Amino acid sequence: MKINLNDTGLGYEVYGETGIPLVLIHGFGLNRHIWDEIISTSLAKAYVVTVDVRGHGESDAPEGAYSMSILAEDLLALLDYLDINKAIICGHSMGGYISLAFAAAFPDRLAGLGLITSRARADSEGQRQNRYALIDKIKAEGVIALADSLAPRLSMNDRVIERAHEIIMETPAQGIIGTAHAMAERPDRMELLHQITVPSLVVAGEADQIVSLEEAKEMVNLLPQGNFLPMAAVGHMPMFENPKKFGDGLMLLRKQVGGY
Ligand code: MLT
Repeated sequence: MKINLNDTGLGYEVYGETGIPLVLIHGFGLNRHIWDEIISTSLAKAYVVTVDVRGHGESDAPEGAYSMSILAEDLLALLDYLDINKAIICGHSMGGYISLAFAAAFPDRLAGLGLITSRARADSEGQRQNRYALIDKIKAEGVIALADSLAPRLSMNDRVIERAHEIIMETPAQGIIGTAHAMAERPDRMELLHQITVPSLVVAGEADQIVSLEEAKEMVNLLPQGNFLPMAAVGHMPMFENPKKFGDGLMLLRKQVGGY
């Protein structure tokens, strides 16, 4: 489905009706269909909302730089439209950056938080420069510049890499560029973590080449109600690499929030 909100068309889907709404936000270059498998298995019947981040999937991809604030406002507009007062906001990697921006701006709307192979720290100066270099490369070569560099780092599993590569190739260059700016310019959220008092889950892939296990542990320790789900033999894509264990982790978070 698609709806015009916050001056942008946003692709989204609503599933099930049981329990507190669980909103799932995908990572950079991906789209809402990364959740399809766990929604039809572990999360079957659960009230789940998936959304295509501005610039991705079915959503519009306006030109120019986006910001984490705008991406969090898109999410708020969708919750308002769906008449959802509080939700468990759960984000994968870049989706986690958006979840933290949402938690900072709209804490009253947060019932629980999931950070999946994500981080609270801002980019270092080097990381920021790499993003600007990537933006230039995408302007010159197109989205293949991201698909070829990012997909191989997402997993050790060739099928997962291939699948991610295909999804990234479907993402418009303008969307990639807009969100790369938002990631480069996002503020550090380490100080925010101890203020997030709702039940939280940090999922980490022990073989993740993008976010280290130590970084994930540091976040769990700062979250007052932080739970940790380290996943063996998993890289950056737990929803593809071990959907059962990952989906069960999300069910446990729902249980902690809503008692279901
Ligand atoms: C993602 O998977 O969303 C990105 O790798 C996150 C990032 O580039 O920081």
